[in-house]
Amino acid sequence: PEKKLIIAIDGHSSCGKSTVAKDLAKKIGYTYIDSGAMYRVITLFAMRNNLISGDKVDENKLAHLISQVNISFQYNTEKQRHETYLNAELVEDEIRKMDVSNKVSLIAKIKFVREKMVAFQRELSKEGGVIMDGRDIGTVVFPNADLKIFMTADVEIRAIRRYKELKNKGEDISLNEIRENVSKRDFIDENRDESPLRKADDAIILNNSHLTPEEQLDWIVDRMNEIK
Ligand code: CDP
Ligand code: CDP
Repeated sequence: PEKKLIIAIDGHSSCGKSTVAKDLAKKIGYTYIDSGAMYRVITLFAMRNNLISGDKVDENKLAHLISQVNISFQYNTEKQRHETYLNAELVEDEIRKMDVSNKVSLIAKIKFVREKMVAFQRELSKEGGVIMDGRDIGTVVFPNADLKIFMTADVEIRAIRRYKELKNKGEDISLNEIRENVSKRDFIDENRDESPLRKADDAIILNNSHLTPEEQLDWIVDRMNEIK
């Protein structure tokens, strides 16, 4: 499209948001921005600085230290993947691991963390031509987004998808553990005070439980063509 749109994709964990967002970005030449990766980087940083014990985060210390965190993204043409950096360090693989997934929703509910991430998300998108996925993109980050999608799928299907993905990467993990993580994160994300996960009134629902990645891409391309 001639106009540089903003496309917001929100929804539950592990349903395929980033898959469809990347596929669409590639197809139409837009920039893909992974807002979840930002919360994962802050979580990794907090873990490394021993700021999380059990379900408790030392918010005062994190507030002091967060200015040391610089998040950036780069597309690796050789590996054909989007990669995330914490300061100058490549952390793409580390932020996807279970220990980060188990803590990230605790970090993502902190108000000052969200404010900082939202400002960064808007800064990165100021030229338009962006597809961003997350939890609050259509509700908080870009309430005027040109297209809003709310994605979900049956929890069992999501757990199996994520299980297969992590197994392929060589992580030693059980389906039970994944199912618990996915459900617990959804619960925290939907019930937090700050920007809870919810469908924006004007978002279109996509339940992709029985769709392949190709079919979900076709579906979203059709929605794009409707708004042009
Ligand atoms: O890939 P997956 O759906 O499992 O998660 P993610 O998109 O990488 O997001 C990880 C976590 O970050 C979520 O469970 C939320 O707690 C948080 N998050 C958020 O609060 N707001 C966003 N816009 C994106 C992620
Ligand atoms: O970004 P989000 O956490 O919502 O999910 P994702 O990382 O895009 O997808 C989670 C896993 O489900 C990946 O391994 C995808 O390849 C897979 N997937 C799938 O099997 N079928 C779909 N229709 C969408 C995603």
